[in-house]
Amino acid sequence: MFRALVVDRDTPPTLRDVDDDFLPKADVTIAIEYSSVNFKDGLALSQNGGGVVRTFPLVPGIDLVGTVEHSADPVFAVGERVILNGDGIGEKYFGGLAERARVRSDALVALPDGLTAERAAAIGTAGFTAMIAVLALERNGVVPGSGEILVTGAAGGVGSIAIALLAGRGYTVVASSGRAETEGAYLRGLGATTVIDRSEFSEAGKPLQKQRWAGAIDSVGSSTLANVLAQTSYGGTVVACGLAQGADLPTTVMPFILRSVTLTGANSVEAPAALRKQAWAALANELDGELLDSMTTTIGLSDVIATGAQILAGSIRGRTVVDVRC
Ligand SMILES: NC(=O)c1ccc[n+]([C@@H]2O[C@H](COP(=O)([O-])OP(=O)(O)OC[C@H]3O[C@@H](n4cnc5c(N)ncnc54)[C@H](OP(=O)(O)O)[C@@H]3O)[C@@H](O)[C@H]2O)c1
Repeated sequence: MFRALVVDRDTPPTLRDVDDDFLPKADVTIAIEYSSVNFKDGLALSQNGGGVVRTFPLVPGIDLVGTVEHSADPVFAVGERVILNGDGIGEKYFGGLAERARVRSDALVALPDGLTAERAAAIGTAGFTAMIAVLALERNGVVPGSGEILVTGAAGGVGSIAIALLAGRGYTVVASSGRAETEGAYLRGLGATTVIDRSEFSEAGKPLQKQRWAGAIDSVGSSTLANVLAQTSYGGTVVACGLAQGADLPTTVMPFILRSVTLTGANSVEAPAALRKQAWAALANELDGELLDSMTTTIGLSDVIATGAQILAGSIRGRTVVDVRC
């Protein structure tokens, strides 16, 4: 028997003791050590799976880190430590908020040398997304000398790791947060040179505003993203990766046709294997372990439901790791 969080239709999520027959058939069985709590996990744990859960019952959790117990894929050996982010786990396949999982091997990544399992979970989907967003900026020509880079949703998981990664690569980072007063010191500690209040972006604004940003990583969407686009300098790039404010985008064509602004995206769920390997190698190499620890809180499986509600309320700072064995 092992413990699993289970989301079912029309009933609140529960922590249950289940056996291996509860798990669907798949290539690789993993003894999970750590998962994490992302915004999407908060949605999955809300009423009827919050539009995230596609099939019931489901074990939520879009991240897992653990040890291979059984493998039908020769690429992954028994005893190997692996990471899985997205690829449908916690949405249409059973996810990481349990002591055991059976998963498809397509998106598994071997735990990079030098990275502990707990730190890999602290990075999780949030950090993986932050890294693929940084790579997207650079693919579009943004370099450390280009000018200021804005990170919205700064005190959240994606935002915190994006700041640390950008600052580590030598960018000048401006953090936008609804908690500028209380979390200003935290955000500067991650590497932001300036912290601004997110209220500057939250209401509808003019289609073109004073040019300021060479690039931006936005996990907020809606009017915030529209204002960011309106303030992006000629030739700049904005990476949309989230919708904490809303999924709408009330913008015009003006930033694109008059300032050659590029709006691109980052999708962690369907990222191809090569991009996963590239991003994880860079994360293991670049992210300062102690800085990562300073933005991370660790909880046990029984604390996850309450934490899911807090992340939807925007009150979680940085990253929350789940030690599923506690
Ligand atoms: N594209 C992908 O593959 C991908 C991967 C991971 C996450 N995401 C998305 O990215 C977003 C962030 O995820 P996360 O796990 O980092 O969540 P998170 O830790 O909750 O961070 C979200 C942050 O957004 C800000 N925020 C919350 N509500 C807001 C509002 N109404 N208006 C403006 N800002 C608001 C808050 O930061 P401040 O308090 O600092 O303002 C909050 O901490 C979510 O929408 C998530 O679904 C997408």
